[in-house]
Amino acid sequence: MSYSGGEHFNKLAKSRGYRSRAAFKLHQINNKFNLLKKGCSVMDLGSSPGGWSQVAKELVGNSGTVFALDIIPMKPINGVEFIEFDFRDKDIKKFINLDFNVVISDIAPNISGITITDKENMLELLNNVVDFCNSSLMKGGSLIAKCFDNSKNDLKKSLLNHFSNVTFYKPDASRKTSKEIYVIAQNKLK
Ligand SMILES: C[S@@+](CC[C@H](N)C(=O)[O-])C[C@H]1O[C@@H](n2cnc3c(N)ncnc32)[C@H](O)[C@@H]1O
Repeated sequence: MSYSGGEHFNKLAKSRGYRSRAAFKLHQINNKFNLLKKGCSVMDLGSSPGGWSQVAKELVGNSGTVFALDIIPMKPINGVEFIEFDFRDKDIKKFINLDFNVVISDIAPNISGITITDKENMLELLNNVVDFCNSSLMKGGSLIAKCFDNSKNDLKKSLLNHFSNVTFYKPDASRKTSKEIYVIAQNKLK
């Protein structure tokens, strides 16, 4: 299968019933790292329109659990529990009293076009994702999160305070011209 060109993935997503081409990014990340497995509990932060949630549900199967969360609505997906909420809100614990095996986040900050500002905003967003992991990801659990190529060094340094293994991966389904890359943080320390 050729992975070049965004149009290819848009068509493929449509033909396979995925709500976003981003679905293939999660498939490709999981083909490499195998973190979403049958029976896992997964939290999808920033889930709408739902491509990643669809893939997560396929991968964890009926014995697994997928929660999805977004500030905008998401059409229901069989077997996925959706909450319309800002993941940074500390009240989230009132709705979810479960610790997850894997947290996935495909959220990016609004892009200003000013490199330093975008980098800072991304790092701040990821700090919030790490706060979420500290309260809701189980010991030994993993995080898959979108980040920018130019935030890799700062991010790795800060994530190694919380996880034993931090690496980066750009799936073929991610546009070559885009600054996005994914951080894979494994084995949460406590
Ligand atoms: C790139 S989209 C996710 C696409 C999704 N992974 C898919 O495959 O369909 C990012 C989403 O993050 C959501 N988002 C941004 N900030 C958020 C926040 N603070 N809390 C929850 N969701 C947020 C946006 O509303 C948007 O729907």
